[in-house]
Formats: sequence, structure tokens, C-alpha cells
Amino acid sequence: MTIRARTMTDAKQQAHTNAELNWWIFMRVSGLILIFLVLGHIYMTFVQVSESDATFDAVVNKLANPAWKFYDWLLLTLTMLHGTNGARYSIDDYVRSRPNRAWVRNTFFTVVAVIFALGTVGLFSFNPY
Ligand code: HEM
Repeated sequence: MTIRARTMTDAKQQAHTNAELNWWIFMRVSGLILIFLVLGHIYMTFVQVSESDATFDAVVNKLANPAWKFYDWLLLTLTMLHGTNGARYSIDDYVRSRPNRAWVRNTFFTVVAVIFALGTVGLFSFNPY
């Protein structure tokens, strides 16, 4: 069952498992971190460089720095986990039949895993020098 709580005390009472409570906490922490990561990312891709400056070469130069690779990877990881868990809450709320829920969940998780793997491999296998 999805936890519907505003406070930690309520969340603890509603959580059937430790994992569910940890996901509830993760959603709050990752949501907060993502606000800054995404704003920073949008700032760097829109304000610091104009749209016409965001060329292949500019991205190559930026990703030559491991710190920016890590920044992008953190953005990728937290976005995927936060978004996927949020969608899992919705799936659990709306797909009521157990077999259907298993299908929808597993297909969804598989797609997410493939996207995450491609993002990670793309980011780290990439080395311009
Ligand atoms: C419309 C606004 C956006 C533009 C123009 C944009 C542009 C870019 C560009 C040029 C890159 C290449 C690497 C770099 O410059 O760091 C990139 C990577 C990335 N962006 Fe965005 N972005 C936008 C919005 C977002 C948002 C809202 C998110 C997440 C919620 C996001 C997540 C990512 C991730 C995870 C990567 C790294 C992907 C990888 O290499 O695996 N972006 N983006």
C-alpha cells in the first residue's frame, strides 16, 4: 500500500515494511536535491550558454571533466529513481488486479533499467581524449 503521510510519525505507522519507509524518505530527500541539480543543469544549458552555443563540441569539452560526468550521472540516477518510484506509486494505486500489476510493473522497470544502463554507459564510456 502506498504511504500517504506528511510527517515521519505517520509514515512509520503506515509503512508495512522498512523498504517502503525508506522509499518514502528517499522521495523527500531526492526531491529536494533534484530541485538544485535540475535548476543548475537548466542554468548551465540555457543561461550560461545560449541555445546556439550548446554544440556537440561544447558538450564534449564539458564531459571531459569527471566532475561534470558525476553531476550528470547523479542527475540521471536521482531522476530515474525518483520518477520510477513515483510512477510505481501510481501503478499500485490504479492497477488493481495482481497479475496485471505484475506485468505493468515489470515491463516498466525493464524499460527504466535499459534507459538507465544506456545513460550510464554513454556517459562513462565517453572519452574524447
Ligand atoms: C529543456 C531543458 C534542457 C536542456 C536544453 C538540456 C540539455 C542537456 C544537454 C546539452 C546535455 C548534455 C550534457 C551536459 O551538457 O551536461 C544534457 C544531459 C542530461 N540532462 Fe538535460 N537538458 C534539459 C533539461 C533536463 C531536465 C529537466 C533533466 C532532469 C529532470 C535533465 C537531465 C539530464 C541528464 C540526466 C543528462 C545526462 C544524460 C546522460 O549522459 O546519461 N535535463 N542535457
